[in-house]
Amino acid sequence: MRVLFVGDIVGSPGRQIVRDRLADIVAQKKVHLVIANGENSAAGFGITPRLADEFLHDGIDVLTGGNHSWDRREIMDYLPHEPRLLRPANFPDGSPGSGLFCGTAKNGVKYAVLNLQGRTFLPAIDDPFRKADSELARLSPDIDFVFVDMHAETTSEKVAMGWYLDGRATAVVGTHTHVATADEHVLPQGTAYITDVGMTGPHGGVIGMDRQGIIKKFLDGLPARFEVAEGDVQMNTVLIETADESPRNSAGHLRARSIERLRFRLDT
Ligand code: FE2
Repeated sequence: MRVLFVGDIVGSPGRQIVRDRLADIVAQKKVHLVIANGENSAAGFGITPRLADEFLHDGIDVLTGGNHSWDRREIMDYLPHEPRLLRPANFPDGSPGSGLFCGTAKNGVKYAVLNLQGRTFLPAIDDPFRKADSELARLSPDIDFVFVDMHAETTSEKVAMGWYLDGRATAVVGTHTHVATADEHVLPQGTAYITDVGMTGPHGGVIGMDRQGIIKKFLDGLPARFEVAEGDVQMNTVLIETADESPRNSAGHLRARSIERLRFRLDT
């Protein structure tokens, strides 16, 4: 089974490269399931119902979120009605929407996507480690592929989550920092891992936003309005391939055979 994860989609440049390239990549790589982080797709901050609908129509099967999931007020009413749009599971009980989605991929394999958010240098929410335990414990036994998006600021919290879930998830990928890391590998118990997938959007700025505004903010520290950057639009992804034959991992799920970083540019 082949699963493509598309790193944080930022603003209209990110949306455009997804529209232009995703279908070809899915066909060329024979991808069975596409997951993407969309929490920065609305001008860098949040996601709207219209954008979520477009992504889900244009070939993305499940959308994950993070600290910016709530930036657009109109998404609050949409989240409970669209289970394929996730927000981190470890927000307090009663928050709109869900952090877990279970579905069936193109090849008939039943999968689960779990969205978590780290707590280091991010707002104080519930413990993502214990939330991972409780969410994985309630999966139905027929789930074969388990994907976790760990949306977090620090490398250490993401590496720790990878080890914590090794053998219990098929893949644990990090998002949020918007810069791809070069540490993709399969952990000993069969969990594919990368600290950060990187982003899908313009790389001519500072993690997706216009560099002049960000530099000014570092210089003067005053409140500022940030615009999406321009230039060098990339789509940063990982392709995870499973070993479909036994043995399974200790939780009975598919083990990852490989994880590969794939970077696409608008003009290549
Ligand atoms: Fe984020």
